Amino acid sequence: MTVATPAPTPADKFTFGLWTVGWRANDPFGNPTRDALDPVETVHRLAELGAYGVTFHDDDLVPFGADDAARAGHIDAFRKALDETGLVVPMATTNLFTHPVFKDGGFTSNDRAIRRYALRKVMRNLDLAAELGAHTYVFWGGREGAETDSAKDVRVALDRYREGLDLLAQYVVDRGYGIRFALEPKPNEPRGDILLPTIGHALAFISSLDHSEMVGLNPEVGHEQMAGMNFVHGIAQALWHGKLFHIDLNGQRGIKFDQDLIFGHGDLLNAFFLVDLLENGPDGAPAYTGPRHFDYKPLRTEDVTGVWASAAANMRTYLLLKERAKAFRADPEVAEAMAAARIGELAVPTLADGESYADLLADRSAFEDFDADAAGARGCGYVRLDQLAVEHLMGARG
Ligand code: GCO
Ligand code: MN
Ligand code: MN
Repeated sequence: MTVATPAPTPADKFTFGLWTVGWRANDPFGNPTRDALDPVETVHRLAELGAYGVTFHDDDLVPFGADDAARAGHIDAFRKALDETGLVVPMATTNLFTHPVFKDGGFTSNDRAIRRYALRKVMRNLDLAAELGAHTYVFWGGREGAETDSAKDVRVALDRYREGLDLLAQYVVDRGYGIRFALEPKPNEPRGDILLPTIGHALAFISSLDHSEMVGLNPEVGHEQMAGMNFVHGIAQALWHGKLFHIDLNGQRGIKFDQDLIFGHGDLLNAFFLVDLLENGPDGAPAYTGPRHFDYKPLRTEDVTGVWASAAANMRTYLLLKERAKAFRADPEVAEAMAAARIGELAVPTLADGESYADLLADRSAFEDFDADAAGARGCGYVRLDQLAVEHLMGARG
C-alpha cells in the first residue's frame, strides 16, 4: 500500500543543482555510465516533477573555455527554459575544482596568479547569478586544502581565503546585487584535508570577515556526517547564530567517502529530526524558509529513468518526513512524554528575571538543601520519547 502524500509543488521550495541529476557517474575507478543531460531538458523535467528551482556552477551551464558567443547561446537557452517553466534560480556557485589549474585550490593556491584567476572566474559568474535573480552564492572550497602538512601554512591560507571573500563581498555590495554568501564546509574529498572542514570551523572563520553579516553557511548532510558530526545539532547551531543561509540535503552512511545519497537514504532518524527542526522550529513555525536544495548523486548503477526517479524520491522522502514530523508533534502522548522529559523546562532561564549571582548564592534550596542524589536518580524519559519518534517515522502511529 502506498501512503498518499501531496505531490511536490513549487511552494515546497525544492531545488536541484544541474550537476546532481546531470552527474554522468564517473568515479575514480570507472568511466561515466550515463550520457550528459542538456540543462534545458533538466529544467523542463524538474518543473514537471514539481521542483521550485535549479542551481548551477558556471561550468555546468557554459562549458569551461567556451567563447563569448557560445556562452551567450547557452545562457539564452537556459533563460528561455526558465521562462517557459517558471523555475527560478535561487542560488549559483563557481566550479573552482575540476580544471587542473585549481589542483592546489582557487583562493588559497600557493600560486598567486591562480588566485587572481579564481577571483575573476567568481566575479564573472556573480554577474550572471545576479542577472538570473539568485540571492545566494555558495562557496564550496573542495580544492582549498592539502594532502601534506608541509604544503601550506594554514594560517596564511586562511588569510588568503579571507582576502578573497572580503574582495568578492565588496564587489557584490558595490554592484548592489543583493546576494548573500553561503560557505559549504566539508572535511575532505577531493583534498586530503579541506579548509573550513565543519560547520563550527566555518562559523568561527565567518566572524573574521569584513562583511560577516552577509556571509553564512550552506551545510550539507553528508559532509558533517563524514566527520562523525550530528547534522541536526550543526543545523541548530547554525540557526542559533542566524547563519543558515542555504542547505544541501542528501544522505550518507557513516564515516567514509562522500556518498551524496538520496535524502533520507542514510541516517533516516536524523533526517526525520532535521525536517522536524526545519519545518516545526521550536514554536511550530518553520525555522528555515529558504530553498530545500538537494545536492545528491543518482547512483552510478542507474540509467536516466533512475535519475528522474531519484529526483522524485528526494522530494517525496522530504514530504513524507514532514508529514510524520507533524503527526509526531500533534500526538497527545508525545506531548505528555515531552512534558515528562522536561523538554519545555530548558527554555526557562536558569536565573529568574533580575536574579543575580548573589541571589543564587543566598538561595539555600539551590545548593545546601538541594538533594543531588534524588535528582541524579531520576530518569529523564528520553527513551520513551525517542521510541515514539521512531514509531511515527515508521508509520506505526497515526
Ligand atoms: C560535494 C559538494 C559539492 C558542492 C557543489 C557546490 O558533494 O562535495 O556538495 O557538490 O556542494 O559542488 O559547489
Ligand atoms: Mn557531498
Ligand atoms: Mn553540496
